[in-house]
Amino acid sequence: MTRLRTAILISGRGSNMDALIAAARDPSFPAEIALVLSNRPDAPGLAKAKAAGVATAAVDHKIYAGREEFERSLQLVLETYRIEFICLAGFLRMFTPWFVGLWRGRMLNIHPALLPSYRGLDTHARALADGVKIHGATVHFVVPEMDEGPIVAQAAVPVLDDDTPQTLAARVLAQEHVIYPMALRLVASGAVRIEGNRVLAAPTPREATLIVPDAIAPTQRIS
Ligand code: GRF
Repeated sequence: MTRLRTAILISGRGSNMDALIAAARDPSFPAEIALVLSNRPDAPGLAKAKAAGVATAAVDHKIYAGREEFERSLQLVLETYRIEFICLAGFLRMFTPWFVGLWRGRMLNIHPALLPSYRGLDTHARALADGVKIHGATVHFVVPEMDEGPIVAQAAVPVLDDDTPQTLAARVLAQEHVIYPMALRLVASGAVRIEGNRVLAAPTPREATLIVPDAIAPTQRIS
């Protein structure tokens, strides 16, 4: 089985990165974590990735004149490692439409809210201030607009009366660690396809049989 060569892009502690690395240790997982890349050379997640035996690199955005120069360097590193797929995991830089276009349909992000509610920052404090009873996390494909794009997986958690932004964040984060590997598995195994703004189940082999033209001999059909 060829596994999808995946890079995880981080800016911080990398707990979602840990969850993805752990899932990909299973040889039957359809993606391998071929690189952890950070825009911050001092990101704590980089040391954890190294300790886990994963290749790491840092491209410090601060030394570049502009966003696109920074992204060209990122792209060069990704090409050097023959990366086929990207998982953003707490990567705190916005991408230009150029970079998003290069990776369209091949880049996931995790957001700590039930999109399309609570795009942007401070999602947990905002959810508490609004008095919502359900909060959660979303894994979605990246499009040029921030925190938009076809949704692959979501997890909901209850908001409890005595929650603080921190306790709510911790409950959501535990679910992030479940749905991110699950979403990467679905996408990397080809189990889902993007249709417009939706992520739907890809045709199963059985359905594929039904669309084989009649002219093809039965022995050639997928069973
Ligand atoms: C997570 O809450 C994720 O949803 C958001 O950034 C945070 C990253 O946390 N995009 P970690 O670095 O994965 O621990």
